[in-house]
Amino acid sequence: MSNRGSFSSRVGFILAAAGSAVGLGNIWRFPYLAGQNGGAAFLLIYLLFIFLLCFPVMVGEIAIGRSARRDAYGSYSALGGKRWGYLGLFGIIAGIFILSFYNVVAGWAFGYFLEISFGSLLNEGDFGNFFGNYVNDISDNLWFSLGFMVITAFVVSQGIQKGVERANKIMMPALYTILILLIIYSLTLDNAWAGVQFYLVPELDEISSQTIFDGLKQAFFSLSLGMGALITYGSYVGKNQNIVSSAAIISFADAMVAFLSGFMIFPMVFSQNISPTEGPALVFIVLPEVFHDMGPLLGRIIGGSFFLLLCFAALTSTISLLEVPTTYFVDQMKMRRSRIVWVLAIVIFILGLPTMMSQGMVPALNELPFYLNRDFLTFISDMCDISLTIGGCLMCLFIVTKWKITNMDNELAEGNPIYMRTFLRNYLHIMIGYVCPILLGGLSILIIDKYFGLGLFF
Ligand code: PHE
Repeated sequence: MSNRGSFSSRVGFILAAAGSAVGLGNIWRFPYLAGQNGGAAFLLIYLLFIFLLCFPVMVGEIAIGRSARRDAYGSYSALGGKRWGYLGLFGIIAGIFILSFYNVVAGWAFGYFLEISFGSLLNEGDFGNFFGNYVNDISDNLWFSLGFMVITAFVVSQGIQKGVERANKIMMPALYTILILLIIYSLTLDNAWAGVQFYLVPELDEISSQTIFDGLKQAFFSLSLGMGALITYGSYVGKNQNIVSSAAIISFADAMVAFLSGFMIFPMVFSQNISPTEGPALVFIVLPEVFHDMGPLLGRIIGGSFFLLLCFAALTSTISLLEVPTTYFVDQMKMRRSRIVWVLAIVIFILGLPTMMSQGMVPALNELPFYLNRDFLTFISDMCDISLTIGGCLMCLFIVTKWKITNMDNELAEGNPIYMRTFLRNYLHIMIGYVCPILLGGLSILIIDKYFGLGLFF
């Protein structure tokens, strides 16, 4: 197992894990969910979940991976026996499905980047109509998402240090720079202040059960928890590194990007007097409208930068999503990384085809039968969300009942000599031992109940 590679430094690991966390979830999904759920109220719930519930789960995942030094399946089975290995496998499969649809949306962002920067997208009159036709007709998208998958596979095929770490070291600083520049610009727009207010002044009566469910799902998805991405990345971390403080920095970096994305987007949306409740179309319909009004040159530059930002964010996440099954095949089946990566990329790309065709092209996929009545993309992404919170709950149960919390403590004390004496240790015990499994399990049941209309509690 010695030649499986490792991150070269603490910064390398933190950037890669933050890169996994920061993604379409932060820049595309967070703003539209916040827009639909009352802005500031949603932000508040989201931040609470990130720091209270998700941070301990992240620490647990990294500790499992570093202790076992294997892929998600191998880690669970090495520390807890074959049966627990299935939990790792469940995560790997969830990751494959996430990547299948994630790559399609990343392909839209890639297409928008190219067509705004170098094409004539901003001359379109009706962006709603344009987006509808764009996602319906897959002839272009097919190539954009194939291109995205090829870039992802290329990076992962280069290995942990030369591929994953290096790509993140370039893209993450670029991402923050573009984001800050766009915020500065957006705050200068007319009526920007109304957007800031919507985003920062919470109206607590806006909080409903939906706000809480959406906040939890979003926090989990956004931190890449519950499916083994951090077990996998953790398995490449050196024993001399401080897991707790790294996890704190990663959570902070992720929450910051979500927070800043709202700061960039809501002033733009309010400057156009557009409603922020647009949903998934927010960045693909509303923002092009804003870029269009900036005039041909500025629109191209600002709009192009925005979609480039989205592509960078997505790519650092798709890399981690592909790394999870890749590490599995390399560790368990002793396959060559440079080969299995491409096989996985092709299979996952094909798995994404129904998602691609679900936006109008194939009516049966656009409107799934029976009580599912949603399009395939929404359905599969909802299923993955649920599997993440369940995965997080089971991970806590694994630590407490099988691996034992003292083993986690010992792992966390490596690279952090004072850990055993800190308050954080008690905090992690309470959270992983009681609060996280109970809340995650309970909320997952409520979410399933509401989603499928089972009528157990709602
Ligand atoms: N965290 C990523 C995002 O916010 C998505 C992701 C989920 C990546 C799970 C890896 C694993 O976009």
